[in-house]
Amino acid sequence: MSSQKYIKAFLFCGLVTLSIAWFASSGRSQTVKPVQAKATATYNADDYVGSEACKDCHEDQFKAFSHTSHAQLSTISSWKGKVTGCETCHGPGKAHIEEADPKKIISFKTLSSKAASETCLGCHAGRDEHNNFRRGEHWRNDIGCTDCHSSHSPETGRNLANSNVFVGRANAQKPGFSTVKLLKVTEPQLCMSCHTETKHQFNLPFHHKVLEGAMKCSDCHNPHGGFELKQTRLAIGADAACIKCHADKQGPFAYEHAPVKTEGCSACHTPHGSANPRMLITSRVAQLCLTCHSVAHDVGAIEPAGPQHNLNAQYANCTNCHLKIHGSRTSPVFFR
Ligand code: HEC
Ligand code: HEC
Ligand code: HEC
Ligand code: HEC
Ligand code: HEC
Ligand code: HEC
Ligand code: HEC
Ligand code: HEC
Ligand code: HEC
Ligand code: HEC
Repeated sequence: MSSQKYIKAFLFCGLVTLSIAWFASSGRSQTVKPVQAKATATYNADDYVGSEACKDCHEDQFKAFSHTSHAQLSTISSWKGKVTGCETCHGPGKAHIEEADPKKIISFKTLSSKAASETCLGCHAGRDEHNNFRRGEHWRNDIGCTDCHSSHSPETGRNLANSNVFVGRANAQKPGFSTVKLLKVTEPQLCMSCHTETKHQFNLPFHHKVLEGAMKCSDCHNPHGGFELKQTRLAIGADAACIKCHADKQGPFAYEHAPVKTEGCSACHTPHGSANPRMLITSRVAQLCLTCHSVAHDVGAIEPAGPQHNLNAQYANCTNCHLKIHGSRTSPVFFR
């Protein structure tokens, strides 16, 4: 666009949208301040022009945006009379249009990761899992909402499987699949683009089938942060994320194997993948048991006692006899 045309376009649209804005705002009662109230010195309903006013000049963004759930807010009754659409994120648009000034609109190109996230948190902070975002490792390391989510159009091309293992290509090609939760790229590629080391772990001989598409990183982790170490969704005890899928390991058992409850599953298993069968942290079961059960019985130590029986070949495979190693309803030594 030549600069003259540019200015003309601005002036023209400015006039049109001004009148639209006047009509719109006169019949509108602003019940809730928009998120950007902080950014503008004082909040003034007349500074807001509505998404339609942006359409002519930003057709691509307008079109892409119209397919997202944010675009539907204006149709939800509880959002009637509140600021919706483009200006919820980019701030009031009147000055930008009237003064033909690209600087008079919030651009995400110039926002820091944290500032961009604050824009989103203005609405999302109070909602379920996002209220802990500022407690998470991602926030601390300047990874923000817009590193994982695209508010306009996720680039569908980037959703094709790019792993050496077959990654749900069928899913990636489903219409609209790429826009699931507005993710830029679908899981697990999204996460592995930064956490490259995990790709190796999920390729080990015994692993959870994440690369195969049977489960997602976010089944076990909360990408939005939380109280648990490593942003896991699991807490030690009954609500462990592992239990969601492995309910039989939860009990209640009359005879509990203490570490299952006190230290959790990772006392004995690696969560991602392992070279050892059953994803155990040691290659032999006996080796695992004896890391804890090595103290002689009469020492009176606080550590769990070692077996009084001998450890010769017959006893080498502990779980041959101690079958119900996660806990038992009938046997104090987990035989059945
Ligand atoms: C009359 C045409 C016109 C209208 C109407 C208009 N814009 Fe713009 N906008 C532009 C132009 C031209 C630019 C500068 C583009 C560039 O530098 O590539 C721009 C830039 C932007 C930018 C990026 C700023 C930057 O630094 O790159 C954003 C964000 C934006 N507009 C949002 C909006 C929103 C939201 C609305 C509706 C409230 C809107 N625009 C209405 C013409 C318009
Ligand atoms: C939910 C927040 C949100 C809404 C609503 C939104 N945008 Fe954006 N917009 C963004 C973000 C974030 C970017 C930066 C690129 C990205 O991450 O996709 C962006 C980028 C842009 C750009 C490119 C310049 C830049 O800042 O990078 C334009 C132009 C734009 N948006 C216009 C619009 C228009 C027009 C609408 C309404 C039809 C709209 N946006 C609605 C968040 C939003
Ligand atoms: C004006 C308030 C508001 C702002 C600002 C806002 N959101 Fe939202 N967002 C919502 C609401 C409300 C919903 C729920 C819509 C629904 O239930 O359909 C939502 C839904 C979402 C969803 C789920 C989409 C889906 O398809 O299920 C994602 C992801 C999201 N927002 C991310 C963001 C990001 C990233 C930003 C900042 C760039 C942002 N939001 C800014 C209000 C907002
Ligand atoms: C590290 C990547 C990452 C970051 C950073 C991130 N998200 Fe998400 N978000 C995800 C993933 C992955 C999902 C989908 C989880 C699923 O499939 O259930 C998601 C889901 C959502 C949803 C939908 C939740 C639901 O229950 O339907 C919303 C809303 C959302 N994110 C908003 C945000 C906001 C706001 C921020 C910034 C404060 C943010 N996200 C930061 C990865 C991220
Ligand atoms: C844009 C890059 C990026 C993306 C995408 C990303 N992360 Fe992260 N993540 C980081 C950084 C940087 C850290 C903090 C440094 C570290 O521990 O590696 C981090 C930390 C974490 C941690 C905490 C590690 C710890 O030591 O406490 C977990 C868990 C995690 N990310 C999971 C995920 C999941 C799940 C996804 C996908 C939904 C994801 N990440 C997507 C960059 C990213
Ligand atoms: C079956 C549940 C599960 C799945 C699926 C899963 N994780 Fe984890 N992840 C965990 C647990 C549990 C830990 C904590 C391990 C520990 O404390 O030693 C962890 C630790 C991590 C860490 C921190 C590693 C470190 O050495 O500090 C990162 C980063 C991480 N996971 C990323 C991912 C990514 C990326 C994906 C998907 C590709 C993923 N996880 C899938 C359960 C899971
Ligand atoms: C989303 C469901 C899901 C979650 C959450 C989950 N798992 Fe699994 N897990 C599975 C499935 C399905 C299998 C068996 C299928 C396969 O991969 O062959 C499995 C297999 C296993 C195995 C046996 C592997 C083998 O070689 O036989 C162990 C051990 C295991 N999981 C431990 C855990 C731990 C520990 C956690 C929590 C950090 C966890 N799981 C969380 C679904 C889940
Ligand atoms: C004290 C160590 C220990 C703890 C703690 C532990 N496991 Fe295990 N688990 C084992 C051993 C040993 C095996 C292999 C049994 C065998 O030899 O067949 C196993 C096997 C498994 C298997 C595959 C075989 C089966 O029985 O289904 C799954 C799944 C599993 N564990 C899940 C879990 C989950 C989930 C947790 C946390 C609630 C957990 N484990 C905690 C030691 C442990
Ligand atoms: C992380 C440490 C840890 C590991 C690994 C572990 N245990 Fe235990 N085990 C304990 C603790 C603690 C108790 C409870 C001891 C007590 O109450 O005096 C216990 C109790 C037992 C009991 C009940 C009898 C008793 O002394 O109370 C048996 C049997 C047992 N474990 C067998 C095994 C076997 C077999 C393995 C290997 C598959 C194993 N344990 C791995 C910590 C562990
Ligand atoms: C051939 C079956 C068998 C095998 C294999 C076996 N045990 Fe035992 N274990 C027993 C019996 C029998 C008891 C005593 C039960 C009782 O007192 O009622 C026992 C008891 C225990 C106890 C409770 C403390 C005690 O000595 O009374 C622990 C701990 C234990 N075994 C650990 C192990 C470990 C570790 C291994 C693998 C190195 C193992 N067991 C292998 C049969 C076996």
